[in-house]
Amino acid sequence: MPAIVLLGAQWGDEGKGKATDLLGSSVDYVVKYNGGNNAGHTIVIGDEKYALHLLPSGILTPGVVPVIGNGVVVDLSVLFGELDALDARGVDTSRLLVSASAHLIAPYHRTIDKVAERFLGDARLGTTGRGIGPTYADKMSRVGVRVQDLFDEKILRQKIEGALEQKNHLLVKVYNRRAITVDEVSEEFLSYAERLRPMVADTTLVLAAALDQGRIVLLEGGQATLLDVDHGTYPFVTSSNPTAGGACTGSGIPPTRIDRVIAVVKAYTTRVGSGPFPTELRDADGERLRTEGAEFGTTTGRPRRCGWYDSVVARYAARINGVTDFVLTKLDVLTGWERIPVCVAYDVDGERVEEMPMTQTGFHHARPVYEFLDGWDEDISSARSLSDLPKAAQAYVTALEEMSGAPVSAVGVGPGRDETVQIRSLLG
Ligand code: GDP
Ligand code: IMO
Ligand code: MG
Repeated sequence: MPAIVLLGAQWGDEGKGKATDLLGSSVDYVVKYNGGNNAGHTIVIGDEKYALHLLPSGILTPGVVPVIGNGVVVDLSVLFGELDALDARGVDTSRLLVSASAHLIAPYHRTIDKVAERFLGDARLGTTGRGIGPTYADKMSRVGVRVQDLFDEKILRQKIEGALEQKNHLLVKVYNRRAITVDEVSEEFLSYAERLRPMVADTTLVLAAALDQGRIVLLEGGQATLLDVDHGTYPFVTSSNPTAGGACTGSGIPPTRIDRVIAVVKAYTTRVGSGPFPTELRDADGERLRTEGAEFGTTTGRPRRCGWYDSVVARYAARINGVTDFVLTKLDVLTGWERIPVCVAYDVDGERVEEMPMTQTGFHHARPVYEFLDGWDEDISSARSLSDLPKAAQAYVTALEEMSGAPVSAVGVGPGRDETVQIRSLLG
């Protein structure tokens, strides 16, 4: 049986959490492969609403084994805070596995993330301030601290010492902050070690064995394609690879075992933080999308920037990720517009382009070329099959499918687990 990747096609917050939760009962493992507690997933099950940041969304499904893969960066205080909150609500979190090779977010990573942003002033990226970038930077610079280091105190202290040698210069001399001691960092880390120990595993081995036994493994991406450090709108990106390739490196599952790639795409577009966004609406229409779509961040509470659907972005996501299925979300939010603009191409300095421009300068200059589709007025939240949707909503879905390069297999018509139009099976 296969591994399946589920990821975001745009700039995040497409509704990946809901889509993962929806598939939960059909899969055996849900693996988070990138990012950390910069993610924010809101999942609504009946009258209950859950906000998850670090834990895989599969944690809410009884029987599923949730896995934090080696590609994730882990803030231990957040991990245990989330586990305690779920335990208090009666969710069984006992099956969680954490990769021994995942990197740890240290207090100095959080500090550097926030101070660096402050120093950037107007050029700031608008990060979530959770220490994500500095932790991945240390991973690449080979001065990171990993989960496995918690179980060898001597090594742990050596690693923290090595990292602090550079960090304290930066903190004291450049950022005018106080130096951090090895003791305070190691004490914080070690205070979690014994509680973490039973969850720690060679998750690559566990997942390979699961696939050999015919289990279904869902690889859940945080962030999204256009926030990918290689394929996104660099430098206005996160510091990991949310795209399909990142699912392999971040979990240890090879590409030959992945059989489907499901991309979650919103029926319009949102973005949090800085960076180019061709279809952004800075007017009353944008405000209306934000209000009607409740577009405020799950992690930082920031208002999300809103704009129309961008099929250049969707086609790019289809190509970069090898998308087999789109899950189109929040179609219900578009109810009540007389006509709905959809971006079919860009005008870049007078030239019509249908692919993502090669350079960031080109992307900054991209102006959307719109086609206008008919809107609908009917409440669509109770639709469960395509034919339940008004003709204009059906035509909107079909038009997006044709311009975006992969079939739309499910459509979200509300935040609830069952508020979904199922068109074909997402599991093939
Ligand atoms: P994620 O980061 O991709 O998991 O997405 P978020 O949870 O940050 O943001 C998506 C928001 O939209 C959440 O509040 C969901 O409950 C909500 N949502 C998901 N699908 C739908 C949908 O089809 N319709 C509506 N109205 N809300 C949805
Ligand atoms: P989910 O998983 C939307 C954005 C931040 C910022 C940039 C870098 O909920 O879709 P970082 O803290 O990662 O270094 O910030 O990336 N960003 C997100 N935007 N949804 C997310 O996650 C995001 N995670 C990071 O706003 O612009
Ligand atoms: Mg989110």
